[in-house]
This record gives sequence, structure tokens and C-alpha cells, in this order.
Amino acid sequence: MSLDIVILAAGQGTRMRSALPKVLHPVAGDSMLGHVIHSARQLNPQGIHVVIGHGADAVREQLAADGLNFVLQDKQLGTGHAVAQALPALTGDTVLILYGDVPLIEVQTLERLLKRVEPEQLGLLTVTLDDPTGYGRIVRDEHGCVSAIVEHKDATEAQRAIKEGNTGILAVPGKRLGEWLGRLSNNNVQGEYYLTDVIAMAVGDGLVVATEQPHDAMEVQGANDRKQLAELERHYQLREARRLMALGVTLRDPARFDVRGEVSVGRDVVIDINVILEGRVVIEDDVVIGPNCVIKDSTLRKGAVIKSNSHLEGAIVGERADAGPFARLRPGSVLEAGAHVGNFVELKNTHMGEGAKAGHLTYLGDAVIGARTNIGAGTITCNYDGANKHKTVMGEDVFIGSNNSLVAPVDISSGATTAAGSTITQNVSDDQLAVARARQRNIDGWQRPVKLKKD
Ligand code: UD1
Ligand code: CA
Repeated sequence: MSLDIVILAAGQGTRMRSALPKVLHPVAGDSMLGHVIHSARQLNPQGIHVVIGHGADAVREQLAADGLNFVLQDKQLGTGHAVAQALPALTGDTVLILYGDVPLIEVQTLERLLKRVEPEQLGLLTVTLDDPTGYGRIVRDEHGCVSAIVEHKDATEAQRAIKEGNTGILAVPGKRLGEWLGRLSNNNVQGEYYLTDVIAMAVGDGLVVATEQPHDAMEVQGANDRKQLAELERHYQLREARRLMALGVTLRDPARFDVRGEVSVGRDVVIDINVILEGRVVIEDDVVIGPNCVIKDSTLRKGAVIKSNSHLEGAIVGERADAGPFARLRPGSVLEAGAHVGNFVELKNTHMGEGAKAGHLTYLGDAVIGARTNIGAGTITCNYDGANKHKTVMGEDVFIGSNNSLVAPVDISSGATTAAGSTITQNVSDDQLAVARARQRNIDGWQRPVKLKKD
């Protein structure tokens, strides 16, 4: 069975009060439309057709990807008109309609819906709500069979009392769609071409409308304003928190934990409050993450410990290695097993060997540091000469005294020591001591200056 998916995303979203097109507003770090496209892809359709209008250029620019067909709807004349714009590109046996501003729809729900489509049957996703104000109402006949959808604004009082609402998501036999869309009229309160009118046409043609409901009403909740956007965000985050807890993660507070990307976790991971995980994050068994950490596109190997208030991006933290509190690991930072990075230490494109240590107040950029090497407090690599970046290389078991400036390119070989306060500009060989600072002079009987009297 071949499938085409049409995602409606042309609307303006006035109530967002935003320069950004509505469907580009983010939920959990990805645009709402991005989430819908992600779910759509998992159904392996032959085509995904995104109907765009308001902010079309911005949407195209942000989401352009292989296998996405953007269709322009110049004027937003209604949901039926929107689907009709994609019609020339639709050749699948089944056409599934989704909404660019309904981001939390679950793939399993869509799979259930798609199972209901047959040549003589279509699948409609409905939701029963205490307050269905604004929703199209599902009208059923005396046998309980769906006969039509009536939009809220067009409904009678009796119809408005119906609690079963139209989610807008439906799956129809592709061969029939064109004919039904061609028969739509805009003779209604809103003067729009309603996609929902297709239901009564299908029933008139002898088709059966099979309904499914989502397990959770939030799956079909759209975001029309910032309040609803925030509700979707919280719902997404709680869902993600529950997923991770089910996999064996302790979250000190699932309500104070945010994922903005894809996270894989091992067992017995402990995550304290206010942690944000972004991009692709891999967390292996027994990792502990302290409060207030931001971890982006990073891998934390078994037993790694990230202490509070640390910021990691593009980093690999090896087994039992630890970083923080207040550590900053920038892209290309690698800590081998058991390495240690302490407070106010910044690393960029730097490799720390097994058991290497930088405990305090240090900047290490473009450096390769051998196993067990110890970097004293206040040390920096001078890796940038104003035009180019240069490398600092340290062997194994090197001891860098406190407050060193290591002027790259420079090589400090295994077992070497540098004295505190040194500015190292020349290579140091194995087991040498380098002292590169002014000698201390002690002057006897020093008279301190005295304060001058003001007349
Ligand atoms: C629609 C349904 C209603 C359902 C509700 C669920 C119709 C006629 N009504 O109503 O039964 O209960 O959704 O939220 O379908 N869009 C376009 N082009 C257009 C018009 C709309 O792309 O010309 C897009 C919008 O961007 C939006 C979606 O279609 O993503 C729904 O449009 P909207 O105007 O919000 O429909 P509702 O009136 O809410
Ligand atoms: Ca709507």
C-alpha cells in the first residue's frame, strides 16, 4: 500500500504575535513542523507534501530536506483548498492529512488510523472533549455511523452539544480524494473550502468512516498562542522524562528536566534538577549529572560524573572521568578514562589522556595532553596568535606548575616539569625542568612610601 502524506502549514497564526511563521515555533528545540515531519517519515510514505503560505520562504529555508515536497497555497481559502494544492503530486493508494501546528501526534496512533483505510472506507481521528468549543463536531446517524462533520461556527445548538470533535487528522483512499475536493463549495459561515465536507461526500458515495482516538488528547492539541505552545512543551518534556525513567534513569525532579534532541541512556544514571540535554546526547551506565548542567551533542561514558553548573558541547567524557562544578567543555574536548577537569576550567579541541588533571581556573585550547599529566591552577594555552591557531602538546606524566602561559606551538615532553609562573615559549625535553620567570630579589630594610600631607 503506497502512502502520501500532506501536512497543512499555510496558516498565519495571528495569535502567536510573532514575526516567525507559526509552524516554525519550537517545541523541545525543534520546530512544530519539524516534529510532524519527523513522525511522518517514520511511516515510510512515498511522498511528504507540505502546504505552505504564510512565511513560506522561511519555512522552506529552515526545513528543506530530501524527499520533502513544498506546495505553495497563495491564499488560505480553507483546509480543503489547501489539500487541493497538493493534489497533482498525490499518487498514493492512501493520503494521510496532518497539521504543521499539531506536533505531538504519535506514530503508533497514525499507524492505527492507517490500518482503517480501505478502498471503501476512510479513517478519521476524533477526540472526545469536555469542552469541544471551536472543533468541528462528529455527527453520527442512528446506528452510530459517522455521517458528517459540522464546523463549530456552522453548527446548531444540538450539534454543539456533541462532545466528539474532529482532530483534523484523517486518512482517505487516494483515488477518490480528487473528485471529492473538486465538489467542495465555500458556501458556509467562514466562506472557506472545508476539508471536513469530504466526510459527508464519502458517506454519500457509500463509504464507511472508521474512527480512532488518540490515547492522549495532547497528541492532537494544536498551538495557536504562546500559552498553548508552553503546554505542549511541558507535555513533551514529561513524556520524555517518563520514557527515560522507564529505562532506568533517576530524575531528581521530572518537572525540572528538559530534552531538546535525542537522548540515549544506560541504566542507573542519575540526573539532578535543571539539566538540559540538547542535540544528540549519549549517556552510558552509572553516569551522574549534577544540577544546572547544559549538555549538548556529547557522549558521557560509563561512570562519568558531571558536577553542577557545567556546560558541555561536542565533548566526550570517558569512563569515570569527571568535570565541574563550573566546567566548560567546548567542541572537540575529549577526556579519557579517569581524567579530571575542575572548576572554572575551559577546554576547546583538547584531548586529555587517561588520568590527566586540570583542577582549577584554566584554559586549554588545541592541546594534546598525555596520561597522568597535571596542569596547575591558572594555566592557559596561548593558542591564538591573532591570525592562526597553534597546538600545545604535552607528553605523559608532565607537571605544569601553577599560572603558566604555554605559548603555542610548543611541545613539552614526558616527565618534564615547568615552574610556577612560567611563560613557556620553547620546547621542553623529557624529564627537564623549565623555569621561565624573573628571578626573585629580596631587598633589605625596604622603606614603604609615606602618604604626603595635603597643606
Ligand atoms: C479545523 C477543522 C475542524 C477541526 C480543527 C481541529 C476544517 C474546516 N476544520 O478547524 O473540524 O476540529 O481543525 O483543530 O478543516 N490551513 C492551511 N490553509 C488554509 C487553512 C488552514 O494550511 O487555507 C492549515 C492551518 O495552518 C492549520 C490547519 O490547516 O494548521 C487547520 O486550520 P484552521 O484554520 O486552524 O482550522 P480550524 O478552524 O481550527
Ligand atoms: Ca485550528
